[in-house]
Amino acid sequence: MKTAIAATIRNAGFEDAGAIYALIKEHPREVVPRAISDIVQNIDRFLVCETRGRIIGTAAWQILPEIGKALNPSIEIKSVSISSHYQHKGIGSALVKAVIQRIKRFHPAQIVVLTFTPEFFRQFGFREVAKETLMHKLYMGCINCTKYDSPFTCPEVAMTLAVGKK
Ligand SMILES: CC(C)(COP(=O)(O)OP(=O)(O)OC[C@H]1O[C@@H](n2cnc3c(N)ncnc32)[C@H](O)[C@@H]1OP(=O)(O)O)[C@@H](O)C(=O)NCCC(=O)NCCS
Repeated sequence: MKTAIAATIRNAGFEDAGAIYALIKEHPREVVPRAISDIVQNIDRFLVCETRGRIIGTAAWQILPEIGKALNPSIEIKSVSISSHYQHKGIGSALVKAVIQRIKRFHPAQIVVLTFTPEFFRQFGFREVAKETLMHKLYMGCINCTKYDSPFTCPEVAMTLAVGKK
C-alpha cells in the first residue's frame, strides 16, 4: 500500500524491541502496554514501519487459544501504534494490511481486534461483534485488565474480519 512518505514495512528484529516498546507506550489510552520481555519473546509476531532508520509504526498479532478446534483458531491483531508525528499518512493502514496478508496464510477462523477506533478498522472489512462471542480473547487478555472492572463495561469495541477457509 502507498504511504504519504517513503517508508518500508518489514519484519521486526530484536534490535527493534526498544523502539516498539516506546511506540506502544506513546498511546497508553488506546494500546495495552507491553513489557520489553514480552515484545522480545514475541518479536516474530511484529511488523515495523521504518523511515530513514527510524521506527515510526508497529503492529502485531497473536493466536488465540481455541479448545477442540485446532485447525482454524482466531488470530488477534494488537499493539497497532503509529508515532503521533506520522499519523494520517497511511502508515497504520499499510501495517494492518500487511499483518492481514501475513496471518491469512494460517487460514484463521477469523481475525479479531479490540479497539477504540472502529472507524479505522471498518475500512479493512472488520465488523462489530458482541464481546460475548470472543470469550477466548476475554480469557486471554481482558481477564487481567486493571483499567476496567469488566470487559463488558470497557469502551473498547470488539470487531472481527472473516477470512476464507482453507
Ligand atoms: C489508529 C492509528 C493506528 C491509525 O494509523 P494512521 O497511520 O494514523 O492511519 P492512516 O493514515 O492509515 O488512516 C487512514 C484512514 O483511517 C481512518 N483513521 C485513521 N485514524 C483514525 C482514528 N484515530 N479514528 C478513526 N479513524 C481513523 C481515517 O479515515 C484515515 O484517513 P484520513 O487520514 O484521510 O483521515 C493511529 O492513529 C494510532 O496509532 N493511534 C493511536 C493508537 C491506536 O489507537 N491504535 C489502535 C489500537 S487497536
